[in-house]
Amino acid sequence: DQIYVGVDLGGTTIKVGVCDSEGNLLHKYEGPTGVEFGQDHVIGKIAEYARAAVSETSYAWDQVVGVGAGIAGFLNIAEGIIVASVNLNLHNVPIKQRLEEMLGKPVKIDNDANVAALGEVWSGAGKGLSDVVCYTLGTGVGGGIVENGKLLHGFKGMAGEIGHLCVVPDVEAIQCNCGRVGCLETVSSATGIVRMATNAVERGEFTSLSLLDKIEAKDVFEAARGKDEVALRIVNRAAYYIGRSMATLAVITNPQRFIIGGGVSRAGEILFEPIRAAFNKYTPEPIKDGVDIVAATLGNDAGIVGAAGLNLK
Ligand code: BGC
Ligand code: NA
Ligand code: ZN
Repeated sequence: DQIYVGVDLGGTTIKVGVCDSEGNLLHKYEGPTGVEFGQDHVIGKIAEYARAAVSETSYAWDQVVGVGAGIAGFLNIAEGIIVASVNLNLHNVPIKQRLEEMLGKPVKIDNDANVAALGEVWSGAGKGLSDVVCYTLGTGVGGGIVENGKLLHGFKGMAGEIGHLCVVPDVEAIQCNCGRVGCLETVSSATGIVRMATNAVERGEFTSLSLLDKIEAKDVFEAARGKDEVALRIVNRAAYYIGRSMATLAVITNPQRFIIGGGVSRAGEILFEPIRAAFNKYTPEPIKDGVDIVAATLGNDAGIVGAAGLNLK
């Protein structure tokens, strides 16, 4: 039997999954990334955890077909290079080559949200569908576009960076991690939601959020559910721009389904309802016909499962 190893390289944790050829997750392993110790450390940890994950199964390393890694940031996929990852503090790192040397297996890398989309299409909310757009809402906003059953990659592999769609008008725009202003990520990520809430409290707006020492995105959703006007306004703003960006993507790629994953998606209907409203408002009738917007089902495992799938066939 052959197995596939998938790695989710996150800013705080490296997660590893061992999958069979059907996308079944056989085993999971995780450990700290240690971004603060630099790139050699991070690459060494990926190799160490990948081997450890397999050693905890009944399979041997020889049975590994390949290792796939999902990584947040701008990647040159064909060359296997991390061009710029702000979260991981990695720039121009030839990670594919370095991991292949350490692991003695073929290594493929792809964007974290791209592999999450693959995972959802392989065995989650997009199972059996060939045209799907996936959003991941967390620290950043990620995107993965599956067209005709294949990930859209573009020139270097940077297609589907939905978080950097420029959506906010200049007068309201703030700076994004990518260096530009007005990106979707600045308003619709957990970070963006927390920032808007913190600003509202600092401006002295009347909101239950002002009672908290430290605001998290889930607090904002909870307050919104309790009809807190300020929290509602923030949630609606985050959702509005997601829905509008979906309308943009719909006219370009005509997907059958939008899948929303990442921690923020757990907010449920308070978030999904205004997303659907904005999508409906801005998408031409014939294009939105038959299209739905649903929550991801693989949760945190989408990344490792999808990454494992990078070496399929
Ligand atoms: C990065 C993307 C990533 C997303 C989610 C964004 O800031 O640019 O590459 O997919 O965050 O992690
Ligand atoms: Na992407
Ligand atoms: Zn940006």
